[in-house]
Amino acid sequence: MTNMIPPKKICCIGAGYVGGPTMAMIAAKCPDIRVDVVDLNEERIAAWNSDELPVYEPGLYDVVKEARGRNLFFSTDTEAAIVDADIIFVSVGTPTKTYGRGAGRAADLCYIEGAARMIAKVAKGPKIIVEKSTIPVRTAEAMRTILTANSSEGQFQVLSNPEFLAEGTAVEDLQCPDRILIGGERTPEGDAAVETLVNIYSQWIPRERILTTNLWSSELSKLVANAFLAQRISSINSISALCETTGADVDEVARAIGMDSRIGPKFLKSSVGFGGSCFQKDILNLVYLCEHFGLPQVASYWESVIQMNDWQKERFSGKIVNTLFNTVRNKRIAVWGFAFKKDTNDTRESAAIYVCRDLLLEGANIALYDPRVSQETIIADLKYVGVSQEMIDAQLTICDSCEDAALEAHGVAVLTEWDEFKEADYSRVLDGMHKPAFIFDGRNLLNHDTLRKIGFEVYAIGKG
Ligand code: NAD
Ligand code: UDX
Repeated sequence: MTNMIPPKKICCIGAGYVGGPTMAMIAAKCPDIRVDVVDLNEERIAAWNSDELPVYEPGLYDVVKEARGRNLFFSTDTEAAIVDADIIFVSVGTPTKTYGRGAGRAADLCYIEGAARMIAKVAKGPKIIVEKSTIPVRTAEAMRTILTANSSEGQFQVLSNPEFLAEGTAVEDLQCPDRILIGGERTPEGDAAVETLVNIYSQWIPRERILTTNLWSSELSKLVANAFLAQRISSINSISALCETTGADVDEVARAIGMDSRIGPKFLKSSVGFGGSCFQKDILNLVYLCEHFGLPQVASYWESVIQMNDWQKERFSGKIVNTLFNTVRNKRIAVWGFAFKKDTNDTRESAAIYVCRDLLLEGANIALYDPRVSQETIIADLKYVGVSQEMIDAQLTICDSCEDAALEAHGVAVLTEWDEFKEADYSRVLDGMHKPAFIFDGRNLLNHDTLRKIGFEVYAIGKG
């Protein structure tokens, strides 16, 4: 394995929100290494090769443009990319299982296994396999077993290198990460493989920010990092309910506690609930692992983070119904934002999906605007959570601006913190709405005093 340094070719299986941006950054920073990003999804690959990337991320197009066609290539020819790659990143999805044992909790590792079998079938000679996907602790062991059992010509070192980027800030996070984590087997071959990957990242990341650990610590740290981040949000969201009944202001409380350097200010923004493809999935995975290893108390501790998040979403839609005189039937409600956070077109587990579903089931007519999310995605997401096509046809309108959505509405619900919502023409919005005109700010994004002065009734999260 030690002969592999320096690598000439890298391949990445999976061209999603992680595979695409991560590999584009490596290609941009290491022009001497050829980087092939492959995916089974032809449409996705075509988009990576076009001017309309499949992932909306500020600054990403420039990074892709710099390297694409020079040393960065997107294709569906997985086998060709694997065969002569020195390092193979596996960046396929690891969604929550929806069937069989562990359904609703465990990670579905079918794509990981598919990738491992494909590598084993094609690979010849020494290869470093890098787990980029978020996976349960000890998955590297399963990968190694599949690889060695199915390959006569390959020699494999499996590394764990979880990705910590957040969507919406992916380019910044990749350019200047808090840390890079690399886990490897504690053997001379394992150490050499770790060093090979360290050398790639150290092209642009200071060496002291590259952390190396054993495989299991690295795999587990990714789940734990997400669980800790989500736990902070659930903690402050639980306090938001208390603020509303006591007259305290959750943003003031967050500021006051966040100035304690032992607590810190980040991830204390109270909201309608966290979303995204990672937090819920990874906590459920952690919960499943704890149950599996006979630790029910630990499992239920972390499960409560999800329960609090679910309650926060329900509480928000309940607040809208209660405030609008206990009925939203046939009332138009403008929903501003559908993405799970600003600056992304990703809607996975977005709080907006659940709030919209609840309101549709209460008979509301939803007028929805999001600057980046397509109509197809919105409809598919709502159907996935049980909204019928008839309900979509009768009760959902997709609008071209937030002002249009608010026309004739009884209430506006702000569900994503897009900057443009701060710039809306609120006098026009008010004029077009039924009175009293309510704003439900699920992100505490807007200037509530100004809105009240203009004439709105405002409900904000955690404001007494
Ligand atoms: P994604 O669903 O956007 O992309 C995964 C891609 O893998 C899909 O395009 C799919 O077609 C492809 N794929 C699956 N099997 C394949 C195969 N055998 N060959 C080729 N392509 C295959 O997922 P994502 O958001 O990029 O996440 C990938 C992993 O990274 C997950 O484990 C996730 O938990 C983790 N992660 C995600 C984020 C995030 O912000 N999205 C951040 C950190 C870590
Ligand atoms: C998260 C982790 O931050 C990242 O390190 C990991 O690699 C993937 O999962 P992501 O889900 O992309 O990243 O975005 P993040 O910024 O963490 O936000 C997740 C959700 O929490 C969003 O819905 C966001 O709006 C919400 N959030 C975040 C809050 O409600 N309050 C906060 O203070 C921070």
